[in-house]
Amino acid sequence: MRRLFVAGNWKMNLDGCRSHDLAEGLKKQLADVQDVRVAVFPPYVYLNCVANVLNKTPIEVGAQNMYPEPEGAYTGEVSGAMLTDVGCRCVILGHSERRHVIGETDEFINRKVHKALECGLEPVLCLGETLEQRRAGQMEKVVSGQLRAGLDGVSAGQMEKITVAYEPVWAIGTGETATPEQADQAHACLRNVLGEVYDEEVAEATIIQYGGSVKPDNAADLLSMPNVDGALVGGASLSVESFVPIVQAALN
Ligand code: 13P
Repeated sequence: MRRLFVAGNWKMNLDGCRSHDLAEGLKKQLADVQDVRVAVFPPYVYLNCVANVLNKTPIEVGAQNMYPEPEGAYTGEVSGAMLTDVGCRCVILGHSERRHVIGETDEFINRKVHKALECGLEPVLCLGETLEQRRAGQMEKVVSGQLRAGLDGVSAGQMEKITVAYEPVWAIGTGETATPEQADQAHACLRNVLGEVYDEEVAEATIIQYGGSVKPDNAADLLSMPNVDGALVGGASLSVESFVPIVQAALN
C-alpha cells in the first residue's frame, strides 16, 4: 500500500508573519497526522522560520527549487546542502512554472535530481503537459518523456526517495481541475513508464501526486483514484482552512 502524500507549494506567496502563522496553524491541526505524509514548501527566505515551527512535528518542510552545484559563484542561487542545513527534507524540482516561465530544461532538472539525492534531499519531480499538447493528443508522449529524462541515471534503489507530481499546466492556478479519470490515466501512464525503466516493484511503490487546482471540494474524488497517491496543492495550501480538509480527505 502506498502512503498518500499531501504537500503545499506556497510558491511566491505570503510574508514572514503569515508564513509563521500558517505553520503554527498547521502544527496545531495536524499535530498527530500519521497515516498521510504531509509537507509544506515555503519560499526560501521563510524556510528557516517555518522549519523551526514545525520541528518535531510530523509535517515536513521542503524547498521549491535548488541549484545543482555544491557551492560557488552562482549569485542568487541556493544549494542542496543549504536546504538540509535549514531543516529541509525534500525539494520540488521541475515545477511547470520553472520549466515554462524560467525556461528550465529536462537536462537541467535531471542534474538537480542527482544533486538533491546526493545531498540527502527527497525530490518531488514535477511534470505535465500544456493545453496545446493535450489537445494535440500528446499528453502521454510529453509526460513519459519528461519522466524518463528527469530520472535519467537514477537507480532503482534511489527511487524510494523520489516522488513524482503530475501537474497538467492547463490546470495550475486556473481553477480548472483534471477530472479524476484524466488524472488517473496520466498517472497510470507514468507508472507504466516506471515499470519499463525499472521494474514492477518500483512502479507499484512510487508515489505519484496530482497537482492543479486541488481544493477541499475535489480532493476526495481525485484521491479516491487507484493511481493518485496524493496532492501537490498550490492556492489552497495558503490557509489552514483549505489545506487541512485536503489532508483529511487523504486520511479517509
Ligand atoms: P494550484 O493548486 O494553485 O493550481 O497550483 C498547483 C501547483 O502548481 C502546485 O505545485
